[in-house]
Parts: sequence; structure tokens; C-alpha cells
Amino acid sequence: MRSLKIEVKAGDIADWRDEAVVVNLFKGVKRPGGATGAVDKATGGAISKLIESGDFQGKFKEVSVLPAAGESPAKRVMIVGLGEREKFKLDRIREVSGKVALHAREIGLKSFSTIVHGAGIGGLDLHEATEAMAEGALLTLYRYTRYKTSDEGKKDPDVMTMVTTEKARVGVMQRAVESGAVIASAGNMVRDLVNMPSNDKPPQKLAEFASKVAKDSGFKCKVLDERLMADMGMGGVLAVGKGSEEPPRFLVLEYKGARRGKPIVLVGKGITFDTGGISLKPQEGPLGPIWEMRHDMAGMATVLATISAAARLKLPLDIIALAPLAENMPSGRAQRPGDVLKMYGGKTVEVLSTDAEGRLILADALVFAEKLKPQAIVDVATLTGTAVYALGKRVTPVMGNDSKLVRRLVKAGLDTGERVWELPMFDEYAEQIKSDLADLKNTGGKSAGCITAGMFLRQFVGATPWAHLDIAGTVWVHGGPESIDKTYMPKGPSGIPARLLIRMLRDWGKSA
Ligand code: BES
Ligand code: MN
Ligand code: ZN
Repeated sequence: MRSLKIEVKAGDIADWRDEAVVVNLFKGVKRPGGATGAVDKATGGAISKLIESGDFQGKFKEVSVLPAAGESPAKRVMIVGLGEREKFKLDRIREVSGKVALHAREIGLKSFSTIVHGAGIGGLDLHEATEAMAEGALLTLYRYTRYKTSDEGKKDPDVMTMVTTEKARVGVMQRAVESGAVIASAGNMVRDLVNMPSNDKPPQKLAEFASKVAKDSGFKCKVLDERLMADMGMGGVLAVGKGSEEPPRFLVLEYKGARRGKPIVLVGKGITFDTGGISLKPQEGPLGPIWEMRHDMAGMATVLATISAAARLKLPLDIIALAPLAENMPSGRAQRPGDVLKMYGGKTVEVLSTDAEGRLILADALVFAEKLKPQAIVDVATLTGTAVYALGKRVTPVMGNDSKLVRRLVKAGLDTGERVWELPMFDEYAEQIKSDLADLKNTGGKSAGCITAGMFLRQFVGATPWAHLDIAGTVWVHGGPESIDKTYMPKGPSGIPARLLIRMLRDWGKSA
């Protein structure tokens, strides 16, 4: 699928030729000003009349399309509502831009031209607003067509032109479109990998994909195989991978944008399919069907997409992304409930459920991360179904041992619309994961499952600032009243939290 091309041009939207020109209106505004006012004038007051008749009120994401009359050389005028002025923020620009792109698709436009929402009367920063528009349109128009043998007659717009009256703004806007496209394609890369069926993404294939991305984006990729992992003593990854015909792998991705000081390490869970192993999952679990477990490598997809975007944005940081990759299958060679494992670094774990496999592979990866002496570690995992009971499907639980790092993530979440909220890590929760037989057990019982999983991970990090994002509830948008309802995140994989991590890394130098 070819994706939308976004151009930036200097000119007057009231005097612009395209299949449609797009302007906007805040809620309750009776007499449009700025660019919308100019288009209103050129069309002989068509927009004012629409407002007067009550047919357009400027409600958030309200859309109306008029045939352009009068002096305007455009074919149509599309007007989009920005909603209440007080509620207008960057994330609303993504949604509005997505809504316009979606409407353009629905009415079959090949191209349209638009002003930048929010940079004029809205008062937002031009670079941020332009970037958010690019992100919103590209994320919304995303489609996964790899397994369709015909395009089913679906047509998308080819070009969106962003028009500004000031020539001096063109450069800033072009750079913003470029970075917005990099950020959107990170989210879309996560969606692609999550959508991909598990028969096409065993550990080795994902590793090959990652090394191709590394080559294209300009960072290093090392792949550890099962022999090397055995030499190193990575008991967690090996035990989880044992039951599958597809051998496990361990990815080490490295981007050097600072070349000094300590790296930031990202860790992503990469279970290419989670059957539960011998603790087999039912066909229909409390949270959904078993086939959805192809999303269990979303953490890995996230850290790959994030480091790739960091490289393409040339961020002035050293970043290392780690991803243990394994398929959790039941078989004659699979690990059993009751087995005891020796993890990387030497700690022992009693495996009470082979379905609590994520924390086993992450434990090895966190020990690996700690050995890199980083300034911070952030791990991302579809770790526990109970994340949904804790915070629902709209917000990602975050836990950690460092309030500044957690604050950075919360802030980046608010800026990107990929919100996260902190759950407590009081020491007493660790009582639930003490084992009689080994150092730890891998399940903590019925209460606070999301937290006890976090507490388990915590045993494998030292004093390094560390945070953990449990994306089990936010990885997939199901629709309905519980779900994220953003135009740019339709049903399917959300792409969360790639944009959030990129945001955090871009803001790293700023004090949090
Ligand atoms: N990958 C699952 C978590 C999951 C469940 C994600 C549902 C999305 C939707 C994870 O490996 C798992 O099975 N966790 C268990 C842990 C339990 C056995 C302690 C869970 O949450 O039920
Ligand atoms: Mn599991
Ligand atoms: Zn899992």
C-alpha cells in the first residue's frame, strides 16, 4: 500500500485549487475569522450561512462538505469542527486531521488541501501542530492489506497539501511533516507486526525483520541464538522457548546518537504466540479469544519501532533495545508447572504457571540490561490480563522504582494521547511472589496480578532507574464503551506505546 504523500506549499487557501480545501471552526463561533473567514468570503458567505442555519456548530470532529461557489477555484470546501477552544490540545489536532483524511477517503477524494489546525487562532506551536496533523492523517489511513489478494476497490487519497500564507513557515512545516511521518510510521510498524499472523513471525523471522530495519534506519542489530543463550545462562528465555519447534532468539539493537555517557535501554516482550504452554489457555479467555495472543510480541515491536524512529530522527542519545523472542507452546519438550529455572544472573524461579511466561523472558532481559550500566531502563510488555481490571483499556499501567522516570512517561503519555498511570510498588506486594522451593515463584495469586508481575520484574533490576509498562489492555482496540475511541486509533492494534516512548526520548534532555 502506498501511503499518503504530504506536501507543504505557500499560498492563499481562499484562492487555492484542489478537489477540496479544508478549513476549521471552533465551537460556537458565529463569524469565522482567519483562513476560514477568507474562504467564507471567497465563497460568498457559504460558511456563514451554514452556521446561521444551525447546520454547522463547530463541534469536535464535526465535518461538512459544500460545493465551493463564488471566487474560490476549489471544487469543494470541507469544514471541520475543532470543538471547545478550552479543550483544544495537540491530541485533538491528530484526531481532527484523522477525521478529515477519513472523510476524504469516504467521499473518494484523491487529493485535498488544508490549513494547519491550531497554529493560527488556536495558538499552538507551528511545528507541533503541523507534526500532529501529519501523524493524525497517516495513522488514521493505516490499513493492513498484506494478506488480501485484491484491494477490494478501496481507494485512498494520494496527496494532502498543507497551505500557509507565509513563505517563511514552509521550512519549519516541511521538517515537521518529515518528523510526523517518522513517528506515524513507528506506530504503523507496531501495528503491522502485531497484525502479522504468528505462522509468519516466529522468533528467527522477527530477528531477520529487525536486522533489515536496522540496516535501513542506521543502527546495529545483533541476534543471539539458543546456543549462545545457553552459554550465558538465560534460563528464562530458554525454558519458555523449549516447547516450540521454533527456537528462541534474543535481539540486541543499538543506536548511538550521543557516543558518550550511559545508554537508555528499552526492553520489549517478544512472545510470538502465547498458547499458555502446558498451562494451556482456553479458546475463549475472560478477555478474548486465544488467537489474539499473536499480539504478545507487541513489546518487541514497540522497542524496534522506537529505536528505528530515534535513529531516523537522529536523536542525540545512545539507545539500546533488547527483545527476548520465543513461542510459548505445549509439547513433549515444554517446561512444566512446578519446574525450577535458573535465570540469567543466577536467581531461581519456581514456575507455577507456564502461562506467566512474559516475566520469565523479561527477567533475563532485565539482567542483561542492568549489565549495560544504563542511565534508565524501560520495559514494555503485554504482561497481564489483570492490567485491564486495574485501569481498563484506555490507560496503560506504569510501575517503577524512580519517580522522575515515571513522571517522564506520564507526561509523554498526555502529550501523545497514549496515556499511562502509575500503580504502586509497595514492598509488601513482594510477599505474594516468595517461593518455598526457590527464590521466587512466577505467579502472585488472585489479587493485584498486574502489580505482582511488576514486583517480579523488579527483582531483576538493581539500582538503575527502571519503569515497566503493561500494555495488555491497550495493545488492541476492540471498540465499545470501554475502548480507546480516537479517530486515529480505529479497531485493531493501537500501536501503543511507540509514540509515547519516542516522545519521552525526544524530551529526554529537558528536565522532567
Ligand atoms: N500474554 C498474557 C497476558 C495477556 C492476557 C495479554 C490477555 C492480553 C490479554 C500473559 O502471558 C499471561 O498469560 N498472563 C497471565 C498471568 C497469570 C498466569 C499469572 C494472565 O494475565 O492471566
Ligand atoms: Mn501467558
Ligand atoms: Zn504472554
